Amino acid sequence: MMRVFSRLVLGISLAICMLMGLPAIALAQPEAAELAKAVQEVENLDAMRSSLAAYLEDATEPPTAETMRQVCKPVGMKAMQLSKDNGWQVKQIANKYRNSAHKPETLQAKMALAQFEHDPDLQGFWASDTLNGAPGTRYYRRINVEASCLACHGGKGDRPQFVKDNYPQDLAYDFNVGDLRGMYSVFIPEVKQALEDVLSAS
Ligand code: HEC
Repeated sequence: MMRVFSRLVLGISLAICMLMGLPAIALAQPEAAELAKAVQEVENLDAMRSSLAAYLEDATEPPTAETMRQVCKPVGMKAMQLSKDNGWQVKQIANKYRNSAHKPETLQAKMALAQFEHDPDLQGFWASDTLNGAPGTRYYRRINVEASCLACHGGKGDRPQFVKDNYPQDLAYDFNVGDLRGMYSVFIPEVKQALEDVLSAS
């Protein structure tokens, strides 16, 4: 009788341990759904820039300083919003940058840009990474130059006046169609870490 009882206790404790252990295992990596969401959001971000640039290119009215500003600045703002909403770090990174906030800061970022430069067919890839010591997954996606980009990223002298005035350190010109312009980089922390951050902040 005693043996049956102790087996029962053992069985129940094992079941409890497994139940408690399982979510921990599931939380160790960002979930597939979250990774898929990151890919989709980056596609949306890129489509937003392309359509804004194409709209400007097709406009019958000559562009004003205001409409000129409505292409890449909003992309940067949307990237910040995505970071805030999802607990990610969403950035645009380029070797030839216009805004110094987009300069490659880490060895990983420099290597990812070199990989895109080296392999023109490479659209995007994942890598394990850490951010401020927290483990997570990084998604990189290439940004290519389209014809509509050249109005502002073409010849140095052809840049709109607001670019010349506002970005005296500008490096983002002299591109041709099909060139690598830069990349999007999304850091997705391990879900467990993100949860802990939320809990410790509250
Ligand atoms: C109307 C002018 C204009 C057009 C057209 C334009 N850009 Fe930009 N681009 C800018 C400005 C201004 C910035 C800096 C924005 C900022 O301060 O965040 C910028 C920044 C960027 C950046 C961020 C990296 C950096 O250099 O700071 C990328 C990537 C980029 N542009 C890609 C493109 C692509 C791709 C296209 C075409 C689909 C395009 N741009 C069309 C004006 C333009």
